[in-house]
Amino acid sequence: MNSASLAFSFFATLREPKARFRAKPQRIERRKAQRSHQFASDLSVKMAENHERSSRTFVDTIFAKQILKDHVAFVTGGGTGITGGVARALAEAGANVALVSRSIEHLDTAARAINDAGDRNPTVREGALEQAASIGEAFAVAADVRKPEEVEKAIAATIERFGKIDIVVNGAAGNFLCTAEELSPNGFGTVVDIDLKGTFNVCRAAFAELKKNRGQILNISATLHYLGTPMQLHVSAAKAGVDALTKNLAVEWGHYGIRVNAIAPGPIEDTEGMKRLVPEPIKEKIRQRVPLGRFGLIKDIENAAVFLCSDAASYINGAIIVVDGGHWLASSSLR
Ligand code: NAP
Ligand code: COA
Repeated sequence: MNSASLAFSFFATLREPKARFRAKPQRIERRKAQRSHQFASDLSVKMAENHERSSRTFVDTIFAKQILKDHVAFVTGGGTGITGGVARALAEAGANVALVSRSIEHLDTAARAINDAGDRNPTVREGALEQAASIGEAFAVAADVRKPEEVEKAIAATIERFGKIDIVVNGAAGNFLCTAEELSPNGFGTVVDIDLKGTFNVCRAAFAELKKNRGQILNISATLHYLGTPMQLHVSAAKAGVDALTKNLAVEWGHYGIRVNAIAPGPIEDTEGMKRLVPEPIKEKIRQRVPLGRFGLIKDIENAAVFLCSDAASYINGAIIVVDGGHWLASSSLR
């Protein structure tokens, strides 16, 4: 009997106390086995359907065109992975975007891809010109979020280039698998420095500009610290800090009209984070634990980010939106 049917038969027993006392033990066992078998097979059909439904190709038009027109976003970690996708999605929604991280190679490649898509002189197909003109511009600026003076320079360079900043996305992060007993003080400190103190450095440096423009902050958190995640002490501590920072700033800076929210992604396919944290042999086991039956896509996080940065979310402040297909809620289940 697998653990899903085990769980089911356990709860079924609790629900039917009278039947339990009247029927013969063998008959009960047979009935339980039949029911749990049926449940397991229904569940696997449902999971397959969910997987199929929730991984269908996204339509291009979830959001109105140019809903972020005239906005300027400062996106750390904007050259790669999840936050690279978020930066591109904000640009596709009409915002100009500054891509910020340590490696200018990452940033230049990502900025070029956005600017090429926004090429105002495409000759390829009809309608392409209009579509291209709706895409914002990208600008690459190197900075290490651990260094407040580099962050301040990057903020100033963005304002010089685009005239203002009214969206800040904090996605810069570091991670590796390491047990608590093997983690060195510098290993722990490095991740806290990037994820938590880096987020603070950026928020602090952008504050005056966000206050002037009644702007907003979107932090990229995680779900690792909701339960205990082995080999993730450093990141769990850092992201718990990011959540605290999100809520505190929402309260303090809400008075200035600044909204501060976070997205907590679950396991997202084709990312550096997944490569580092989920060894290939256990990937399928983890996927099966996701109630929606699939890993997240970068597009899932992009959509949540565009929504939170748009006026559709104008009364959302201090929220940490979990985008994980229900993964962390199911993590302690018996399945
Ligand atoms: P990623 O592509 O490696 O993104 C991390 C980014 O941070 C990189 O662009 C990196 O660029 C930048 N960065 C690292 N250290 C920096 C520093 N000191 N200063 C400035 N930038 C720095 O990994 P990802 O998996 O897409 O993760 C993106 C975000 O999602 C992270 O906040 C991560 O914690 C979160 N997340 C990911 C998952 C997942 O399944 N992947 C799950 C939950 C949460 P440079 O190397 O150019 O500096
Ligand atoms: N296991 C244990 N400790 C590790 C480690 C690992 N796999 N990788 C790094 N460390 C430790 C180092 O040993 C060092 O500590 P020490 O001085 O006591 O030896 C400390 O962490 C700093 O390492 P260093 O390589 O100097 O840091 P860095 O600033 O060059 O790089 C990292 C930062 C380690 C986070 C690096 O992995 C990185 O740049 N990551 C960005 C991309 C990423 O992690 N993406 C996934 C996001 S979810």
